Amino acid sequence: MKTISIVNLKGGVGKTVTAVNLAAILATEYGARVLLIDADHQGNASKFYRIPAEPGSLADLFEGMAACYTDLIQHTIYRGLDVIPADMSLAALDLDGSLPDDVHGRPPRERALRALTDLRDAVIEDDAYDYIIIDCPPAFSLASISAIAASTDIVIPLKPGGFEIDGMAELTRQVESVRRVSPSVRIAGVLLTMWYNDPDIIGVEDWLRKNSGQRVFNSHIRLSRPVDKSVLGGEPICQWSPTSGAARDYRAWVREYLGGVDDGETA
Ligand SMILES: Nc1ncnc2c1ncn2[C@@H]1O[C@H](COP(=O)(O)OP(=O)(O)OP(=O)(O)O)[C@@H](O)[C@H]1O
Ligand SMILES: [Mg+2]
Repeated sequence: MKTISIVNLKGGVGKTVTAVNLAAILATEYGARVLLIDADHQGNASKFYRIPAEPGSLADLFEGMAACYTDLIQHTIYRGLDVIPADMSLAALDLDGSLPDDVHGRPPRERALRALTDLRDAVIEDDAYDYIIIDCPPAFSLASISAIAASTDIVIPLKPGGFEIDGMAELTRQVESVRRVSPSVRIAGVLLTMWYNDPDIIGVEDWLRKNSGQRVFNSHIRLSRPVDKSVLGGEPICQWSPTSGAARDYRAWVREYLGGVDDGETA
């Protein structure tokens, strides 16, 4: 089973759009069993799939209030695609002293950092899902560190631009420090999002391929109005506009990521 965290410290780079569409493509086009975990207090992935943070949300798991991950799972209208939602209560966890004592004697912060690794191990034991996909917030919060530590793969969506590249060096450093604790974590690659055909953008892309030290996927996701509309409509891009450029880009990327050949549909 793969556990994939979608991570970038920068906000607004397409993490959530990538997470919700990766989850949808795996479930609807590959027949995979997918658990999408919203690890962002903004709750955007939850809202996208119209999943309320009641009766339970991810914060309950960190606080030790959910007996089992299955208590928090909600189904979407897409077969095979389930969600654990999040809301603002996740943000409170990062405030000192807000975690309650652990009745089992483990320090609360240590238990919380392991929460998603424990969840992953339980999912493997139950053979419940083929993929866990975690949408992370644009910060090194307790939830995102817990997500990275539980991951087999980190995917870094990157909007090509100067500020975004600066943030990536810091992110790589932080992932490396988590890897000292969880050696199985690997950066699967950088996915260029909101791409458009412009010499400056292509220059940034070339620079990244040569200098980032990370795999940059051949497929990129173009800047496209249907993506914004699909977010407003709460429908994955491949359902909202199946033949749109962005739908083809996301399909091509998933194929490349899973080990198939990039079919060159990305313009
Ligand atoms: N390929 C695209 N084309 C056009 N708009 C896009 C594309 N990808 C994302 N967007 C838009 O950009 C905005 C930010 O996307 P998204 O919410 O996925 O970013 P994020 O990295 O998750 O942000 P945050 O850090 O706040 O969680 C959204 O309004 C989304 O609709
Ligand atoms: Mg987001």
